[in-house]
Amino acid sequence: MGKILVTGGCGYIGSHTIIDLIENGFSTICIDNNSRSTTVLLSGIQEITGVKVKNYKVDLCNFDETYAVFQENTDIEGIIHFAAYKAVGESVGQPLMYFENNLFSLINILKCAVEFKIPHFIFSSSCTVYGSPDTIPVTETSKTKSAESPYGATKQMGEEIVKNITNAGDLKSILLRYFNPVGAHPSSLIGELPLGKPQNLVPAITQTAIGKIKELTVHGNDYPTRDGSCIRDYIHVCDIAHAHTLALQYLIENKSQQKCEVFNLGTGDGVSVLEAIRAFEKVSGKKFNYKIGPRRSGDVMAIYADNVLAKEKLSWHHKYSLDEMMDTAWKWELKIHKDATLHSNSNFQLN
Ligand code: WQD
Repeated sequence: MGKILVTGGCGYIGSHTIIDLIENGFSTICIDNNSRSTTVLLSGIQEITGVKVKNYKVDLCNFDETYAVFQENTDIEGIIHFAAYKAVGESVGQPLMYFENNLFSLINILKCAVEFKIPHFIFSSSCTVYGSPDTIPVTETSKTKSAESPYGATKQMGEEIVKNITNAGDLKSILLRYFNPVGAHPSSLIGELPLGKPQNLVPAITQTAIGKIKELTVHGNDYPTRDGSCIRDYIHVCDIAHAHTLALQYLIENKSQQKCEVFNLGTGDGVSVLEAIRAFEKVSGKKFNYKIGPRRSGDVMAIYADNVLAKEKLSWHHKYSLDEMMDTAWKWELKIHKDATLHSNSNFQLN
């Protein structure tokens, strides 16, 4: 099998995907400018797989430097494009930075894919493209609403750009809409390394439990849901990672009947914030304080996936339970706390 180029491979989902690709026989290279990551996760990949993955520390917004990577690697068979800024709150404050980085990098990598006739392209998208859904669970044909943030807008625009480039040429592509990726590799050798104080729920829970954060705030418990808190579809990062390998194999084996296909990646189960906290307390044995705060702007009340399409066409079935998501997340947090290298790379500011 040919070489797979993973952009953003030093990041959370990218690093877990590289492991799954290697374990399924693919060779990989990475392009990551480490603006939001470090190469520490590549060391974890090497410990787990024995493979040293080469990273090209290139800004994908620099076309010439990106182009040079393709000139040096003429055996690239597929691209998985993760590299993007993804902090919802930050994007509201800095929309131009988000549109420039996320869209220019995508356009450059697609220009190279077309120029070098790379046949397969997988785009990292998000359930955020659905906005606040009218009905749940959402299917891939559910209406996409106007994005709740510039970050979400870059995912919606990104999907349109990939679709149009695919339809205009020989490239075949798949858009993978992740719901809420959480947890860490069972080895605890790689996981999420949030920069600064985490905005996402699960790293906020584990950092509260370990004492990096004084107290967790639950953003609202007055929603019309079963317990008043927001409902999401939490999915283990290793399940997300394996879906990329299956999607690539689906394209390589020419099973796709369309030029561009979309798949939801979620468990299909809705879990509330308070239920997630209780699951964490159960597996960690750590009871911790949280306070109920005001609703967070931009939050949707409830969203979870209809994942039938990925099951039927990609033969994808998620393996990890909510308890295992919390357990692996907690074990990773404990590892960061003990390991000086990881600790210094976790780059958090104590509040
Ligand atoms: C989940 C729930 C919060 C933190 C976003 C992006 C999505 C993807 C994942 C990139 C919400 C509540 C959170 C806290 C809380 N990003 N919460 N206290 O917003 O569903 O999705 O991140 O790929 O595209 O949209 O995830 O984990 O931030 O929030 O109460 O300290 O947890 O209000 O209800 P979200 P999240």
